[in-house]
This record gives sequence, structure tokens and C-alpha cells, in this order.
Amino acid sequence: MKPVQIKQDIYWVGGIDWDLRNFHGYLTQRGSTYNAYLIMDEKITLVDSVKHYLCDEMFERISHIVDPAKIDYIVSNHVEMDHSGSIPMVKKVAKNATVFTSPKGLEGLTAHFGGDLNYKVVKTGDTLNIGKRNLTFVQTPMVHWPDNMVTYIPEEKLLLSNDAFGQHIASSERFDDEYPLHIILEEAQKYYANIVLPFSSQVQKALQTVGGLDIETICPSHGIIWRANIPTILEQYKKWSANKTDNYAAIVYDTMWHSTEKIAYAVQRAFEDMGIHTGMFNLQHTHISDIMTHVMTAKYICVGSPTLNNGMLPTMGAFLTYFKGLAPRDRIGLAFGSYGWSGQSVSQVEDVLKACGFPTLSSIRLQYIPDEAKLQSITEQLKGELS
Ligand code: FEO
Repeated sequence: MKPVQIKQDIYWVGGIDWDLRNFHGYLTQRGSTYNAYLIMDEKITLVDSVKHYLCDEMFERISHIVDPAKIDYIVSNHVEMDHSGSIPMVKKVAKNATVFTSPKGLEGLTAHFGGDLNYKVVKTGDTLNIGKRNLTFVQTPMVHWPDNMVTYIPEEKLLLSNDAFGQHIASSERFDDEYPLHIILEEAQKYYANIVLPFSSQVQKALQTVGGLDIETICPSHGIIWRANIPTILEQYKKWSANKTDNYAAIVYDTMWHSTEKIAYAVQRAFEDMGIHTGMFNLQHTHISDIMTHVMTAKYICVGSPTLNNGMLPTMGAFLTYFKGLAPRDRIGLAFGSYGWSGQSVSQVEDVLKACGFPTLSSIRLQYIPDEAKLQSITEQLKGELS
């Protein structure tokens, strides 16, 4: 368990969570890391920590460089316990260390760990001199909690961005020129879709600030460190936070006896005929957090459920609850589904799409098993609306 040098006297000392597969409902099929960073300067400074059960791993990495008891400063960029969970243990060995945090961070850390950790509050623009380097703090509220801030080291052109620009990837590689870029970007998109999306307007404000900084390295709190592809990830964040969509339809459905599935494919045929690419997402086979990755850039959100017991299928209820909470904006919705006798599911799905603020295409609701003529008429009707 060794540290990884990022720059002269700056080290990654985090923890690798190889087995993590669920991060509050988000399927993390590649595991994750909690990235803590140690800066060896006149004041030895630890930026963020790791989940409590990886604390020993972090201490082992730190101990290759310095006795953890000698840590002078701890910077807590974010209260969520995947990053703050080991701060009380660090304070137990580094008894005189000062914990620097934002005003909301003070509230959060105090609520989590009590009020005796020697806190000092910092705000946007405040600078902490640690010797040869200065740490400048920028509050980034709601990226991802109200307390978030980032830490910039101008002498190193290095940004410690916490949740922003992160990805859930467990790996022994630390840098973006050591790991397949397409996987990093895919996981960064999934991370944004499932964690950051509701806070896109705050991301845009943060990007304005960050965009004015001279940055050579971005050290997020999860996954791979950016040093070779910084313009690429900044450009992606600009696109995602601006809610820019592609000419693409995400077709999300569940089905009981394959009738709603048949409608889903008739809907797909209409989009493909109109030159609009599609993705088919059967909730029985695809996790909702993976669907969100694709939904995030989809202009059209098409959602289908048959009726079960006067309502939509429970899988669809779960998806729509998750989807609505992540608050995608400026999409076009379409509700569809089959039914046997009562048929309430389609209007319920449509109500959710409208509650998201989406204009909707004409909903599609067919009884029992639709034959090819009915399916073809759905396709033609939808093509007419799309033309
Ligand atoms: Fe990675 Fe909001 O914590």
C-alpha cells in the first residue's frame, strides 16, 4: 500500500474500494477510490480522507512518507463520509492538527463528528500558506452538497476538485494517461448523470471560476487524476452542465407479456426511420444508474410500462422516482404501454414526464397484444409527429 507521487512532495494517499458495487443506489461495477492527498511542505497537509473502513490503508500509504502524527493541517473539501469518514481517526493521531472547512462544512462536520476537532472556517478567496505553497479555497455549493469547496494550489497549477470531475473506478493506475480514456470518460459521464446532474447550474458557476485558473492537474476525490486530457473533461462538463442533448432517443420500458416491448420497438422504428439514433433499455436487464448515463444526453425520453394493479410496474415507479430526482431538463417525453382492461399506467407515466417540465408527444396506449398493423400505425403516427 504505497503512496503515488503526483508532483514533487505531493502524494496520492487514498483508498481503493475494489469491491464497491453500490453507492447509494448507483451501480459501481468498476468499484471506486476515495482520493486523499498529502502535501509535504512546512505545514504537512492532508486534503480529504477516505471511507472509514479504508482508514488503515490511508495511514499505511502516509506512513511511507511521514508519521501521520506529524500532520499539521487537514483540508475537508466535502462533508460526505466517503471523504470525511476518517478525519476523526486522523485527529486521534494528529492531535494538534487544524481542520479547514467551509462554513457549511463546519455545520456538517460538527453534526457528523462533534464540535471538538479544532475547526477553522475558510471561504472563497481565502488563502492558507503552508510554506512554499498557498492553498486557495473556492466554495462550490451543491457540487455535490451545500458544504463543497475545491482547493487550488497556484504554485503547482493543481486543483483538488473533490467530487467534481470524479469517476467510480477502482484501479492501481492513478493518471488519465495510464488508463483507457474511453472508460474514464464513460464513468465520468455516469458519475455526472447519477450524482451531479441536479446541480448543473451550480456546476456552471463553478466552471466559470475554475475556467479562470491555470490548471495542469485535476485531482478529484474519486477515480483517475486528470493531467493529459484536462480540456476534454472540462469540455464534457460544459456540455453536461448546459444540458446539451444529442439527437438521440432513450427508450426505457418494462414489459409483462411482451406487448409493451412490441410497442417499444415500434417507437424505435419511427425514430430510426427519421434518422434519430436510439437506445433500448429494458428495466429487467439494465440498471437504472446505467440508463441515466444514456438518458443524460438524450433529446427524447420515451418511457413505457404495462398496467399492473391500476398502475405502472414497480420497476418503472423506481426508475421514474430516480429519474425525476436527478432533474434532467429540456427534453421531449413520450409515454406508452399496453393494458388488459383498466390501463392507467400510460397516463401515470405521462404525468411524471410532464411534472419534469417536458413537452410530450402523443401517448400510445394499446390493449392486449398489438398486431403488426397496429404497430405499423404507431410507427407512422410517431413519424408524422417527428417530421
Ligand atoms: Fe464522493 Fe459527495 O461524495
